[in-house]
Amino acid sequence: MTSRPVNKAVIPVAGLGTRFLPATKAMPKEMLPVVDKPAIQYVVEEAVNSGMPDILMITGRNKRSLEDHFDRVPFIEQTLENKGDLDKLAMVRASSDLGEIHYLRQGDPKGLGHAVLRARQHVGNEPFAVLLGDDLIDAREDLLERMVEVQARTGGSVIALIEVDPEQISSYGCADISVVEGEDYVRVNKLVEKPAADEAPSNLAVIGRYVLHPAVFDVLEETGPGRGGEIQLTDALQTLAAAEGEGAGVYGVVFRGRRYDTGDKLSYLKAVVTLASEREDLGPELREWLKDFTADAEA
Ligand code: UTP
Repeated sequence: MTSRPVNKAVIPVAGLGTRFLPATKAMPKEMLPVVDKPAIQYVVEEAVNSGMPDILMITGRNKRSLEDHFDRVPFIEQTLENKGDLDKLAMVRASSDLGEIHYLRQGDPKGLGHAVLRARQHVGNEPFAVLLGDDLIDAREDLLERMVEVQARTGGSVIALIEVDPEQISSYGCADISVVEGEDYVRVNKLVEKPAADEAPSNLAVIGRYVLHPAVFDVLEETGPGRGGEIQLTDALQTLAAAEGEGAGVYGVVFRGRRYDTGDKLSYLKAVVTLASEREDLGPELREWLKDFTADAEA
C-alpha cells in the first residue's frame, strides 16, 4: 500500500460538450463563465487548495482558450496597473499563479477512461486525483482532502457519492455499497450506470471527483469500449471493485456539502444564480431582482 501524499490532479477537458452546443463549438464547456470565472478555474483552485499543485489537463481540439486563461497577459495587467484598479489586477494575476499546469492532447475523444489513461506517463506509479469540470465543490468544503485520506487508509481507489432523490438516480452512475463498520467511508461493490429508479441498488450517485490508485491504468489498458462506444472510467472502476491484491478495491466518500452542478443547461443556470446570490458585491441586488422577477412572472 502506498501512502505518499497525492500531489497530482488530472482534469479531463476533451469532451465535446454536446449539451451546450452551439456555445461549445469553439471552446471547451469548462470555459463557460460561472459568474466571473470560467468553471475550470474553480476546479483548478480546488485541486491546488487541496494540496495538488501539479495539474495535468487532458485537452481536445480547443485547448487554446484554456492555456491563454491560465497564462499571464502583460498588457491587461499593465492597463489595470495604470488605472490603479488593484482589485481586478489581483484577480487577473491570481488566475495565472495557480500551481503548475500541464496540457496533453487526448487525440480522439474516446471517453473519460481513455482521457484518464493518457495521464499515465505524467502520473507514474502514485495515487492521483481526477476532477471533472461539471461539478463545482464549494471552496469551503474539504471533500478532496477526505478522499485522499481514505485512499491512504484503504490503499484502493476512492469515488465521491451524493445522496439524490430516488427518482433522480436514473441520471447518474449509481453505487451498490456496503457499510464499513466504524468508518466514514463505504465499500463500493458495484457501479450501475443510469439505472431505472426501481432497479437502482441505492440512491447514492457518483459525482466528478476521484482519487485513484495507479492500478487503474493497467485496467484501463484492458478496458474495451462500453456505453456509447466510449472507454468508460466506470467500467475500469467496476473491475477494480471486484479485484483483489495491490491497488484493488473501490471506496466511496459520501459528500453532503455544497456542490454546484454545471453539466446541463438548467443546473448550470441554477449554479450561476446560487453563486452570484451568495456574493457580497452582487447578492443583495440580485436577490431583490429575483423576488420581483418571480412575482412578475407569476402575475
Ligand atoms: P461528459 O460525459 O460530460 O461529456 O464527459 P462531455 O462531452 O463533456 O459533455 P456532453 O455530455 O457531450 O454535453 C465527462 C468528462 O469527461 C471529459 C469531459 O471533458 C468531461 O469533463 N471527457 C469525456 C474527455 O476528456 N474525453 C472524452 O473522450 C470524453
